[in-house]
Amino acid sequence: MKIRLDRWLTTLGAGSRSEVKQWIRGGQVAVDGRTVSDPALSFDPAADRLSLRGKALDGRIVRHVMMNKPAGVLTAARDPKQPTVMDLLPAEYRSMGCMPVGRLDKDTTGILIFTCDGELNHRLLSPGRHVEKCYRVIAEGRMGPQETALFAHGIHLSDFDAQPAKLEILRVAGDPETTLAEVTIIEGKFHQVKRMFAATGHEVLQLHRRSFGPLEADPDLPEGAWRELKEDELRALRQAAGMAPAEGAE
Ligand code: URA
Repeated sequence: MKIRLDRWLTTLGAGSRSEVKQWIRGGQVAVDGRTVSDPALSFDPAADRLSLRGKALDGRIVRHVMMNKPAGVLTAARDPKQPTVMDLLPAEYRSMGCMPVGRLDKDTTGILIFTCDGELNHRLLSPGRHVEKCYRVIAEGRMGPQETALFAHGIHLSDFDAQPAKLEILRVAGDPETTLAEVTIIEGKFHQVKRMFAATGHEVLQLHRRSFGPLEADPDLPEGAWRELKEDELRALRQAAGMAPAEGAE
């Protein structure tokens, strides 16, 4: 993925946008060993070597983001027809190799983590890691202790046995009746929550993820908004993934 050279230098923290423009125009920046002068030059951080005043700039930036995913966007790196969660982030995050950790369905809202750290991403999704995800659910019909027991026991689905999950019924209301509940699962199979509810006879009408591992959805993030993870959040996330604190974090 290519990006404007001045934008990339700013992303690297080399200087402000106007400063880096001046440096480029002043012949202080080289790409693959050749001095350049156009701040709008198309630059590929994955392939091109960059130097400033003769000194190589390490283009590896590792960022971690929390988004409040809105309904109506796909959790995918890109899609030819439909908007994706990557479209909600600035272009440089794609250039940095930032990817969503797991996926939420198109109609699901709530906390979605992105990271440029492939190992962290992989570990957080590893089935053996048992990272908890908590969802708030509105489901069709009246649910009660019987369903709570079924979830606690684990539910047989057509292609796998979902592990025991904690189901808490918060409210049953309305006519026709619907149930507001919270469910915590330790896996992340395709449509897992919807399928577990359907297996007990209750269609999910709304699904919102409240937490991912140690991280709670930020109530100050409107749907579609995102922010970088704070240092303590990253530390907790790495711990959940069985990784030591990031260098420079302590
Ligand atoms: N389970 C689902 O069914 N959908 C999601 O988006 C997440 C978990």
